[in-house]
Amino acid sequence: MARITAPEIARKKQTGEKIAMVTAYDAAQARLVDAGGADMVLVGDSLGMVVQGQGDTLGVTLRDMAYHGRCAAAGLSRAHLTVDMPFMSYQVSVAQAMKNAGRLVREGKAQSVKLEGGARTAPAIRAIVEAGIPVVGHVGLTPQSFHAFGGFKVQGRDAEAAERVLADAVAVAEAGAFCVVLEMVPAELAGRITALLPVPTIGIGAGAGCDGQVLVYNDLLGMDARFKPRFVKRFADLDAIVRDAVAAYVAEVKAGTFPAAEHSFAQDSSKLY
Ligand code: KIV
Repeated sequence: MARITAPEIARKKQTGEKIAMVTAYDAAQARLVDAGGADMVLVGDSLGMVVQGQGDTLGVTLRDMAYHGRCAAAGLSRAHLTVDMPFMSYQVSVAQAMKNAGRLVREGKAQSVKLEGGARTAPAIRAIVEAGIPVVGHVGLTPQSFHAFGGFKVQGRDAEAAERVLADAVAVAEAGAFCVVLEMVPAELAGRITALLPVPTIGIGAGAGCDGQVLVYNDLLGMDARFKPRFVKRFADLDAIVRDAVAAYVAEVKAGTFPAAEHSFAQDSSKLY
């Protein structure tokens, strides 16, 4: 089956079909997300938090992203694969951004790359797009800048901040991004941006007015009962399901009831010696 392309994603703005994006970090997750019908799989640098167990995304390397991109790509048959450019892989120079984007395509099997930041990231986006690599923009709360924001906070709440987020979204689209993630911005502002941009917006914590939505795999599936931000809806409770399954296995091992005869192999008596 053919993989969904960046131009096909961009065209959904005209057809009005909502875009469903989910993160995945390995082949098993990507296969399930693809089978569930998601249009786009994002190998997000959120892997620093949900896979590596860190408190933020800043320690994630280009090598990590290429590795997880390659793993996720192996599970896909239809969905489009976007891979995040990690912290400091595109900020130092446009030349470095192009080289590293190329590495994510070559080694990470990315069909497109995602960069955080608005107007300041536009030159890097323009150059990567001109090199033939589709780019997803990301404005609003950009977690790689959480130190500068003073935490993981909603962006664009007051009028001045809202105009800044809007200008960033426009700059990213003008630089050639084929869609733009809007993270943690007020729903009304996300609606204004969505009406203004010629390319689709994909929201996370940005309300229902966006052209699409993205959730982190672990959040969507309720894999961590300790973590439930306001913008997450859990579509399953895997935390409890997995805990119960492991507890049942442990109990059967301790009781000697697993493995049973049907899980065991018989000796072939003709080959006994
Ligand atoms: O890293 C990530 O998973 C992301 C999404 C939350 C948009 O950037």
